[in-house]
Parts: sequence; C-alpha cells; structure tokens
Amino acid sequence: MSSFAELVKNRRSIRYFTEEKLKPEEVEQIMKAALMAPTAKNNRSWHFVLVENEAVLKQLSLCKSSGSSPIEKCALAVIVLNNPSESVAPIEDSAIAATYIQLQAEDLGLGSCWIQIAGRNTADGLDSEQYIHELMGIPLAYGIGCIIAIGHKAKDSSPHDEETLQWEKVHPDIF
Ligand SMILES: Cc1cc2nc3c(=O)[nH]c(=O)nc-3n(C[C@H](O)[C@H](O)[C@H](O)COP(=O)(O)O)c2cc1C
Repeated sequence: MSSFAELVKNRRSIRYFTEEKLKPEEVEQIMKAALMAPTAKNNRSWHFVLVENEAVLKQLSLCKSSGSSPIEKCALAVIVLNNPSESVAPIEDSAIAATYIQLQAEDLGLGSCWIQIAGRNTADGLDSEQYIHELMGIPLAYGIGCIIAIGHKAKDSSPHDEETLQWEKVHPDIF
C-alpha cells in the first residue's frame, strides 16, 4: 500500500486494459470502499450495478457517441446510481463514492476511468441515461451518476507533475 499522497499523485485515467479479470476479493474491496464513502446525513443514497459480462460491457460501451470506449475492454464497469428520493445531495453522494472507487482501484494496482453520462447521447441520438436505463433494467427513479471502468492497466501513465499544479486557483484568506 502506498501513502495517500503517492496514491493521489499516481492515479491517472486509464482507458486501455489487459484481458485479465478482477479477483472476487478485489471487486469486494472496491465496493467496500464505495460503501464507506461519506454521504449527506448518512443517507447512503447510492446504488451500484456491477458489470463484468463481456457482451454487456460491449453494449454498455455504446452509451455515448464518444468518450465511453474504455468500458468495452474493462474488467469491471461500476454504474453508480443516485436516488434523489433517498438524499438531499444525491449527486454529491454518488460522485464521492465514484472517487472512492477510483482511489481504491488505484491502491490495488488497477486502472480506472470515469465515464460521464448526464446530458450525453448515443451515436443514434438516444439520451445516454435512457439507453443505460433500458439496457440494464434500472428503474427511472434512479439517476445515472457515472460509470467507472476498471481493469488491469495495459500500460502505466506518468504520475501528476507537481510543477504544473494550478496554485493560482488556491486563494488564501480572500479570493
Ligand atoms: C466528472 C468527470 C467526467 C469524465 N468523463 C470522462 C469520459 O466520459 N470519458 C473519459 O474517457 N474520461 C472522462 N473523465 C476523465 C478525465 O478526462 C480525466 O480525469 C482528466 O483528463 C484528468 O486526467 P487524469 O484523470 O489522468 O488525472 C472524466 C473525469 C471526470 C472527473
């Protein structure tokens, strides 16, 4: 296990994966992290759909006209759902859980990529959320927060460069 500082520095979006599957204990560790993420009023409003089936991953990768290709060859896609009726902050709840998933994956030596869904369309012009609802049988009450594609990294990415951090966006005391 690396330090948290190293973990954050080394995590990069990984869009190409090897064919190696995840071990069940890796999937469990990743989901344990998600289920321990903080939520508004501890409502734990999220739900997660785990997809490992290759044929379904292929279908899921078509949820956007571009930017969703990492799903096709990943080992696990976690569809992070939010439920506005279960929380005052469903978007925040699901975004934090997704971040925990990415960091836990990195800590296991795995790569991941966040796939954004809201406001996007398939190549046929269908709303991406609607496409995923229909494909996965997800009730309409649940919003699609994002999809996190996870797998073994096909190649490493360089860590973040501390020389390029935008410290000018950090405003001590007053903007
Ligand atoms: C809210 C959000 C939406 C994103 N959507 C996509 C996406 O749809 N497809 C994709 O390939 N990467 C997506 N990314 C990954 C970003 O492109 C990536 O995090 C950014 O370029 C910084 O690179 P890094 O993750 O390697 O630090 C998304 C990231 C975030 C946080």
